[in-house]
Amino acid sequence: MKLHNGTQVTEFVLLGFAGQHKFWHILFLVFLVIYVTTLVGNVGMILLIKIDSGLHTPMYFFLQHLAFVDLCYSSAITPKMLQNFIGTEKSISFTGCMVQLLVYGIFATCDLYILAAMAVDRYVAICNPLHYPVIMSQRVCTQLLVASYFMGFTNASVNTSFTFSLKFCKSNEINHFFCDEPPILALACSNVDFSIMLLAVFVGFNLVFTVLIIIFSYTYILAAIVKISSTAGRKKAFSTCASHLTAITILYGALSYMYLPHSSTETQEHEKAASVFYGIMVPMINPMIYSLRNHEVKEALKGIRKKCF
Ligand SMILES: *[C@@H]1O[C@H](CO)[C@@H](O)[C@H](O)[C@H]1NC(C)=O
Repeated sequence: MKLHNGTQVTEFVLLGFAGQHKFWHILFLVFLVIYVTTLVGNVGMILLIKIDSGLHTPMYFFLQHLAFVDLCYSSAITPKMLQNFIGTEKSISFTGCMVQLLVYGIFATCDLYILAAMAVDRYVAICNPLHYPVIMSQRVCTQLLVASYFMGFTNASVNTSFTFSLKFCKSNEINHFFCDEPPILALACSNVDFSIMLLAVFVGFNLVFTVLIIIFSYTYILAAIVKISSTAGRKKAFSTCASHLTAITILYGALSYMYLPHSSTETQEHEKAASVFYGIMVPMINPMIYSLRNHEVKEALKGIRKKCF
């Protein structure tokens, strides 16, 4: 819908993917399976860590919260997207759109910080094993978690409030499958330069800061692992990092694909594909990485199976 100058938008339309109306059955089914897998995987991970006392360590404390965060941000996006595949009307209210951007912004940022906190945890565990229980105390873990949520909340509330204080009068059709900031800014008729700059500063800071923490931690971890003389010891030290490194590689791989420049004609569809991966696939993959590649999680699962049958 084209709007007359001066009318303020009260609801938006989420256009989704180009040509989605032809394949909506398949798309609906695929994303439903992905979402159900995400729910089962992450809820399962949270419960498993709660039940198994062998997993009550700082690493699993963070992993449990990572599962919760993944659950929240995929739930902010996917149910509405599924509804829009089926429905003929693809609208979302102004407030709904705001809430979606806010929730997505909080948890997507929090995800980065929890992964960084996990890198610090691995660093202390491997480079300073004697003081590990003292340094990574319950209190410190809680503080790191609270700081992650604080960063998420700051990012999301600042960016969301500036975005939605703009005037929207060009059109109300968001060329995306959820209310992400760049496609919303494209609809504003007030000057968006400040909002774009603000978003770039926040996203840039959050990305660079967490990447630096991860790189520093893993540089020290690698240096420590190289010094271990026995192959078995080296393997053991590395195996505790393997799942975490895999998760980080996938997440930052998706993010760099999203933010690195690409040809402008395909930009919007390209941007959507990257967001699907980042917002919908990553939360599904994370619990798989941690349960498939992780010896302790496998043991905990076996223990539960034995108890049940
Ligand atoms: C921050 O918040 C914005 C808007 O809510 C969101 O688009 C962005 O992905 C968030 N992430 C980071 C890393 O800052």
